[in-house]
Amino acid sequence: MSNADTSRRTFMTLAAATPAVLAMGGAASAQTTALPGAGRAAVVTGSSRGIGAATARRLARDGFAVTVNYLTNRDLAARVVADIEAAGGRAILQQADVADPAAVKALFDANDQAFGGVDVVVNNAGIMNVGPFAQMTDEAFDRMMATNVKGSFNVLREAAQRTRDGGRIISLASSIIKTPPPATGAYAATKSAQVLFSSVLAKELAGRNISVNAVAPGAVDTQLLRQHGEEALRGIPEQTPLGRLGLPDDIAGVIALLCSQDGAWVDAQTVFANGGLG
Ligand SMILES: NC(=O)c1ccc[n+]([C@@H]2O[C@H](COP(=O)([O-])OP(=O)(O)OC[C@H]3O[C@@H](n4cnc5c(N)ncnc54)[C@H](OP(=O)(O)O)[C@@H]3O)[C@@H](O)[C@H]2O)c1
Repeated sequence: MSNADTSRRTFMTLAAATPAVLAMGGAASAQTTALPGAGRAAVVTGSSRGIGAATARRLARDGFAVTVNYLTNRDLAARVVADIEAAGGRAILQQADVADPAAVKALFDANDQAFGGVDVVVNNAGIMNVGPFAQMTDEAFDRMMATNVKGSFNVLREAAQRTRDGGRIISLASSIIKTPPPATGAYAATKSAQVLFSSVLAKELAGRNISVNAVAPGAVDTQLLRQHGEEALRGIPEQTPLGRLGLPDDIAGVIALLCSQDGAWVDAQTVFANGGLG
């Protein structure tokens, strides 16, 4: 085919492209650029609501097949799966308490059975129990450690064994670790653990082209904060340089970036996403 023929065909393809495709950077590149998640699978722990649900939906839009995990809110998690499928994506639902190593194994088994393996692990499930040292109960402390620290360990151990070469492992830390206010000592400790886990695991997986990072959100409008009452949110938008509370999609976008080719050179880092607060 002559150069003139090639140009004419390219022009005709461009002329036939929809405005949406053209907006993505032109028909030629849209036709040749696969979605970042095409042929790949992601496990997102705690994805029935909040940041996890937004991440599951976003990764599915980016082409990943997604394993949606929940602890108790089956209906919410099932809605995430249904929304993904309605949009043409692939997803499965798997209940698992991340604090239970056998359940976490079963979570990854279910993903592997459905999708043939895992490329992205988002270690997101977490709880926030707060209280001054003088008043925090053993029960509140132990449950948070079991979920946020042992749970993360369980998830990262499976991730270390199963993530395919070229994959991504992302854990949810928190911007609170920079300057934790009173009553958040135990929670902040569990979130600092995510930073340490990620930097060590990144080194352990060296040579396999798997990046391991932590994402540290500021205050994000989810049940995790709202359960503590309006008081927990008061003043945050005013103190935030970007002038508002974070939304789950703000964090899902950062996670999606790390999972894309554009995020491929970020490894062993903590990415703070907080509108400038902290
Ligand atoms: N929101 C914030 O301001 C903020 C800021 C910094 C960091 N983070 C971190 O971001 C992550 C997500 O927070 P979020 O605000 O989206 O929380 P959220 O709205 O409360 O959602 C928590 C999710 O985790 C799941 N979950 C809780 N315990 C679990 C367990 N033992 N096993 C499996 N799943 C469990 C919940 O499942 P069920 O629905 O079934 O209970 C739910 O899907 C957490 O690690 C949190 O520490 C949040």
